[in-house]
Amino acid sequence: MTIKTTEGWVPNEVTARIGARVRWEDVVSDIDWDQAIVRLSPPPMPDYVRSSIHGLEGGYSKPGAAATWDPVVKEIFAEYFENETEQRDLLSAQVDSVPSRVLDVACGTGESTLAWRRRFPRAQITSIDVSPYMLAVAERKLAHDRNIDVRCLNAEHLPFADGSFDLVTASLLFHELPEDVSPVILAEMRRVSRPGGEIAVMEPYRVGGKALKPIPFPEPYLKDYLATNWDVAFKAAGFGAVQTLEYGEGWIRIATAF
Ligand SMILES: C[S@@+](CC[C@H](N)C(=O)[O-])C[C@H]1O[C@@H](n2cnc3c(N)ncnc32)[C@H](O)[C@@H]1O
Repeated sequence: MTIKTTEGWVPNEVTARIGARVRWEDVVSDIDWDQAIVRLSPPPMPDYVRSSIHGLEGGYSKPGAAATWDPVVKEIFAEYFENETEQRDLLSAQVDSVPSRVLDVACGTGESTLAWRRRFPRAQITSIDVSPYMLAVAERKLAHDRNIDVRCLNAEHLPFADGSFDLVTASLLFHELPEDVSPVILAEMRRVSRPGGEIAVMEPYRVGGKALKPIPFPEPYLKDYLATNWDVAFKAAGFGAVQTLEYGEGWIRIATAF
């Protein structure tokens, strides 16, 4: 697998608009990244994670992506959907059951986990990500919560027993994966869901071969994502009763594990 770069990418007017609104003073500057690596003991980083996601060379394998993620993504959400918190809460609001054990796959800097915590105050949440840099930022928000376990893991090989979780979720992950990796992670999410458990996924771009708005930053795997039939992919991974909610530019899928 090759590491994709920003070659060929041309910024557009949306890039400039978002860049002008970002509060650059909110960029994280006081984390000891070397210490975070020692503490979090990361697995080998897959090549696609090193691709120039959002135009940052090295992607999530470098501290820069983690340091800038929160202030930049807040403005990307504002550009596409108006309000980040509302959009994140829209996903968790779709789950009617009350899960005791939640797995947040690819939790990044922890904003997706915080949305699940708002929705289910008593749940035991496990939040995993392959990037120790993203997790170092997440830890600051989540470490005080004794019922949140933050772990540096590759979602392609989860070290959890079959059926360990009532709810397995992923936000904004699949549009950043090569097409041969998405089915592997979906299958792992299915394996660790208990039968009858739910999976909740949120993605920012619709399917159909085309994003509706100009993409503000490079998304090296967007073509793979847009070419995927997600209903088929969920069924193939062993999920049934897939409910799809389209909102703004994106979609939410809630499915039950057979
Ligand atoms: C766009 S961020 C989304 C973060 C978070 N879920 C959110 O909603 O803000 C995608 C995250 O997926 C992580 N990721 C990518 N591939 C992964 C893998 N194989 N296993 C675990 N995490 C992965 C990246 O490190 C990154 O933090």
